[in-house]
Order: sequence, then C-alpha cells, then structure tokens
Amino acid sequence: MSLAVIILAAGKGVRMNSELPKVLHPILKKPMLRYVLEAARAVEPERIVLVLGHDSELVRESVSDYPLEMVIQEPQLGTGHAVSCCEEVFRDFSGDILILSGDVPAVSFFSLREFTDSHAKSGADLSLMSTVVDDPSGYGRVLRNAEGEVLRIVEDKDATADEKEEKEINVGIYCVNSSFLWESLGGLDRENSQGEYYLPGIVNLCVSRKRSLLAFTLANPKEVSGVNSREQLGEAEKTIRLVINRRHMENGVTIADPETTYISDSVSIGKDTTVYPNTYIYGETRIGEGCRIGPSVYIEDSRIGNNVEIRFSSYLTECEVENDVVMGPFCHLRPEAKIKDGAKIGNFVEIKKSNIGVGSKVPHLSYVGDADIGDGVNIGAGTITCNYDGVDKHRTVVEDGAFIGSDTMLVAPIKVGKDATTAAGSTVTKDVSPGALAIERAAQKEIEGWAERKRVKKGKS
Ligand code: UD1
Ligand code: CA
Repeated sequence: MSLAVIILAAGKGVRMNSELPKVLHPILKKPMLRYVLEAARAVEPERIVLVLGHDSELVRESVSDYPLEMVIQEPQLGTGHAVSCCEEVFRDFSGDILILSGDVPAVSFFSLREFTDSHAKSGADLSLMSTVVDDPSGYGRVLRNAEGEVLRIVEDKDATADEKEEKEINVGIYCVNSSFLWESLGGLDRENSQGEYYLPGIVNLCVSRKRSLLAFTLANPKEVSGVNSREQLGEAEKTIRLVINRRHMENGVTIADPETTYISDSVSIGKDTTVYPNTYIYGETRIGEGCRIGPSVYIEDSRIGNNVEIRFSSYLTECEVENDVVMGPFCHLRPEAKIKDGAKIGNFVEIKKSNIGVGSKVPHLSYVGDADIGDGVNIGAGTITCNYDGVDKHRTVVEDGAFIGSDTMLVAPIKVGKDATTAAGSTVTKDVSPGALAIERAAQKEIEGWAERKRVKKGKS
C-alpha cells in the first residue's frame, strides 16, 4: 500500500506568546518543524504535504530545500479542517495517509515506522497513536470501555472532571486509509467548546460507524510530547538532546555529562573522543577520533581532525583544524581559520581567515587575521596583524621557520621571509628578507640614580 504524509503546521501557536511561528522555534539551532520533516522523510512516503496558514511565507522559506507540497489553510478552523484542505491534492491518491503535527518534534522515525507497519499489517481503516502520561492536562484523552476498546477521544477543554482523570492521551499522530479519511472528515462538525473541526473526531466516527480501528500505544511518552508552550519547548529539546547524546555514546564517544552537552543531530564525532560538560557543538560540524573537547567549548560548522585538544572556553565557528592540534583555553577561531597538523593555539588568541602552518605556535594573546603563516613559525605573545587600514583588509604572509618576537605589529600588506626574525616590540611596516632580523625600536635611554631621586622626593612630601 502506498503511503503519504500530511504535516499540520498552520496554527498560530498562541500559547508560545511569540512573534515567531511556533513550528519555527529552534531546537538545537534548527526549527522544530524540520525534525518532524526528517522523521517523516525517513519512513519513505511517496509524498509529503505540509499544511500552512499563519506566517505561511516564513514557514515555507524555512523548509524550501525539502521536496514538499504545500497547502494553505485559510482561515484556520481546526486540525480536522486543516486535513480537509488537502483533499484536492490527494484526488488521485488511494493509499494510507500518515498525519503528523508540526509541534511534536521529538517523535522518532523508528516509532513512526513501527506505527505505519502495524497499521498496514492490521488492515485497519484508522490507526491512532496514544501514550500514557503522568500529567495529561491539555491533551485529548483516549476513553475506553470496560473491555479496553477505544470509545472516543475527548479534548481537554470539553472533558468532564472524570474524563480528565484519564491518563491515556491522543498524541495527534494518525494513519488513515485515504478513502475513510475523506469520508469521515465530511462527518465532522464544530459543536464543541472551541468551535473547531477537531481531527480526533474521525476516531469517534470510526467507532460509531463500526469501522476498524487500531490503537497503537507508544511506551515512551517523551517522544510524543506536544510543544504548545515555552516550557514544553524546553522539555522537547531535552528529549531530543539526550537521544542524540546517547547515539554518540553508543558510537564510542565519551560524554562526561549528557545533561549539559548540546550537540545538533547533524554533527558527527569519531570514536574515543571525549566531550566535557557545558559544551555546544552545532551545525555541520565533523570531529575526528581521540579528541578532547571542553569543558565549556562552543563549536559550530567546523571540521576538527583526530587527536585534537580544545580546552576550556574556546569558541570556534566555520573553521578547519587538522590533526594533533592543541588550542585554548580561551581561544577564538573565526570563519576560514585553518589550523594545520600539530599547531598550537594558546590562550586569548583570535584567528580569522588565516592559515596556521604545520607545527606553528601562536601561544598567547594574539590577533591573526587575513594571514598565511607557514610551517614551524613561532608567533610571540601579543603579536597583532594590523590587517585593516579603515578601508580595506590586507594580507600578512609569514614564511616557514620565521620567528615573530613578542608584541610585534605586522602592518599589512606585509611579508616576513623564511627564517626571518622580528624583534620584540617592533612595528614592522616593510617586508623582511629571508633570514634577516627586522628591528624597529627607539634606542633605550638610561637615567642613573632614578630610584634614589624618587626616594628623596617622597621623603620631602
Ligand atoms: C491536538 C489534538 C489533541 C492531542 C494533541 C497532541 C485536536 C483538536 N486536538 O491538540 O487531541 O492530544 O494535539 O499534541 O486535534 N493546526 C493547523 N490548523 C488548525 C489548527 C491546528 O494546521 O486550524 C496545526 C497546528 O499548527 C499544530 C497541530 O495542528 O501543529 C496541532 O494543533 P494544536 O492547536 O497544537 O492542537 P492541540 O491543542 O495540541
Ligand atoms: Ca499541540
């Protein structure tokens, strides 16, 4: 049987109290809706239809890289109405339709697969996913008879005090035979406290019309928590985060404190790497094997090789680090920093759009921007590439084996030749020949007996 997916994302998300559409609220820097889309895609449906309404343009843009069909629901008259809006695009479709909510982001592809497989096997007209929670408030409750058969779903706002005691909830995920879906949607009304067409009403119609219903109860309720508020957003983030962290641990990564480690699902980390607490690894970051990262390190969209040590409070974005590099504590690698094998980047060092050669060292308090630093170079403490003249940026080239004395100002454009040296404290404005020493300092003066004169002066006052 062919399978299609509908994802509901037209609601405003009033309870978020936000200018941003609910489904675009980020979890680990990625919009909530994208998690649902990825889970949907992993069940390999023939097509995915996204229902948009509030801020549809913004939402559309955020998923423009997905092969999706979009349907606009205007006005938004409830979840049942949202699905009805898709009938036209499914005119020639006769398989099963998996319906998902854009605000249930932690749902795993395994659970969806199990759900759709069970549905297909059972031959039911409608399958309903439920779960049992400690605090069911806000959710639709699944009401069963004494034999345990599902009778109907009642929304929180329409439930009696007794019905509210029920802890089995509707998670808002359904798999429905398409002909039953369109037929039952036609039977919905708005006779409820919210005046909306409720999608769970199709479950009630399935029972009253004596069609076959499968109730699929998911063991892990965390996966299917809906996000209606900021508090629930935080809970969903934590669920997703811990699943990602567990996956890395299974792959041979040590995560010292999973509770305080934030890793996006797009990140890859090699075996025997250790990630220490309070560390954030986002975006398209790849980390090799045997690295030590953290504590308190931030890495985004970067490539890190093998056996790299990134110490406390370092901040890296869009940079590339080869193997056996040691850096930090407190270093800042900005976009297009490329650190080659065996280099050492020390504390309070900022590097931007620069290459640092094999085995070179920038150990303390430096700014290296728009520079090509060769192999085996030593950059002394406090060195600065003066790359910006207020109008343009210029490059600095330091060739292999050069020794840049502490507190050198390299006024770009400039080139320091192979094995050349700059004397500490020099402001170097002209190219330095290979092997030469460039020294730019006023001659040192000496005033004899200075301490004695100071002592006498102090005694008088
Ligand atoms: C819904 C279910 C409830 C279930 C819960 C699970 C209904 C009536 N209730 O409640 O039984 O326990 O999910 O999380 O379905 N949407 C539209 N168009 C609309 C209204 C909503 O596309 O007109 C979308 C929303 O953007 C959202 C999803 O449908 O992604 C669910 O809507 P929401 O208002 O959050 O429903 P709940 O009150 O959570
Ligand atoms: Ca919801």
